[in-house]
Amino acid sequence: MHKSAPTVYIETYGCQMNVSDSELMYGRLEAEGYVSVDSPIGADVVLVNTCAIRDNAEQRVLGRLGELRRDLKAGAVLGVTGCMAQRLGPRLLETDTRVQLVVGPDGYRSLPSLIDGARHGERFSATDFDLEEHYEDFTARRFDGVKAWIPVQRGCDYRCTYCIVPTTRGPERSRKLADVVRETAEVAQRGITEVVLLGQTVNSYHDGSHDFADLLRAVGRVDGIRRVRYTSPHPNDFSDRVIAAMAETPTVCEHVHLPMQSGSTSMLKRMLRRYSREEYLDCVARLRAAMPGLGLTTDIIVGFPGETDEEFADTLSLCREVRFDDAFTFKFSPREGTPATRMPAEWTIPEAVVDARYTELLNTIRSISREKNLGRLGERMEVMVEKEARKGGELMQARSRDFKTVLVPGGPELIGRYLTVELTGTTGATFTGTPVQERAPLPMAS
Ligand code: SAH
Ligand code: SF4
Ligand code: F3S
Repeated sequence: MHKSAPTVYIETYGCQMNVSDSELMYGRLEAEGYVSVDSPIGADVVLVNTCAIRDNAEQRVLGRLGELRRDLKAGAVLGVTGCMAQRLGPRLLETDTRVQLVVGPDGYRSLPSLIDGARHGERFSATDFDLEEHYEDFTARRFDGVKAWIPVQRGCDYRCTYCIVPTTRGPERSRKLADVVRETAEVAQRGITEVVLLGQTVNSYHDGSHDFADLLRAVGRVDGIRRVRYTSPHPNDFSDRVIAAMAETPTVCEHVHLPMQSGSTSMLKRMLRRYSREEYLDCVARLRAAMPGLGLTTDIIVGFPGETDEEFADTLSLCREVRFDDAFTFKFSPREGTPATRMPAEWTIPEAVVDARYTELLNTIRSISREKNLGRLGERMEVMVEKEARKGGELMQARSRDFKTVLVPGGPELIGRYLTVELTGTTGATFTGTPVQERAPLPMAS
């Protein structure tokens, strides 16, 4: 390492969009001569890239800032970026006097100059939205060697009544298809075979000339790409064109993460999700008709204002009807300024009720998932080895096209390899698999 090169450490919270933004920030700062380091201790610049989606996400960051205040070396620049920075802006500078920079998701272009200012003792908050900003000239510094996060859309134009994202990320805008394809080709050239297209409602992608169907087909046929995934789609944006493109592009994986939020039409209305229970089911049916064996996962909120026993029962019954492979479940968290906070106070669900419903929902999700997974033992499938399993013990973690986690024997030399495995065991949630034969590369889409 060059002695005088300043070092930067970025700690990332929240969704893949934030992970991707951190990669862009690292890339930008490295281009400016910074050296990335993997610990805040001793770093010259420490950025905390934050999430504001639920209160506990913010509390974690506030706690972490407290720790960093103690651990940072004297003179180090401490900055907060991302969604919480956007949401709180100058308020963060007031409440935490050690923080020198507050930069929202559209302000990363000015990071080098803001950091320079901060090194001279200045303090800034930069939270303007920039509807043209896609950081096209940044080269992301990627940490994952086998799959690449590719942002295709920023912001969100939905207004779900519980959600802070439209406030923190601004209006929806899409990158040009040609730029997404160029970035995909670049990562493929470096040996990455899987890309994950990112957007808050990614299937509403439209660059003025091309929709998400065009994008899937174009990305799916880039040389060297064997797997295309995307997250998160909105049920209302699954046009027949998009579903057909997904089904007809061999590299697009048979998995959809389809946030449901609630199984009750009246509740969905209060959430302003813009679909009913029946329309959600219809979307699932259309996807499954086009792709039999499709893996389906979802997001669900419990304890949204006014949630009745019947409405919660509808959520449970929709889970049973759809039979999700897995679900992320969240307790409703009121976010400042969102319409949900203006609902009548008597609609607030008591904590004990929320807790009980949360547990019941989790048990329901887990038992369905377990039952489905047990039914798949003995199946053969292609997996891609992603990383070492957390368990260790010469086990690697791999993924199927339909997003199942499969532990396979072997060491780090397998990372990035495609194997055909037979599913030999399951904990109910994840599988163990035995390799049966290496599979020849998939033919490329025409
Ligand atoms: N854009 C994605 C969701 C991004 S946020 C979409 O529309 O599907 C990820 C998940 O967090 C949401 O799907 C929702 O289930 C949950 N979430 C968002 N706001 C929340 C809140 N205020 N309280 C609890 N969960 C919330
Ligand atoms: Fe939030 Fe709704 Fe937009 Fe998703 S679609 S980011 S839940 S407002
Ligand atoms: Fe969190 Fe912002 Fe993502 S609020 S979930 S980091 S878009």
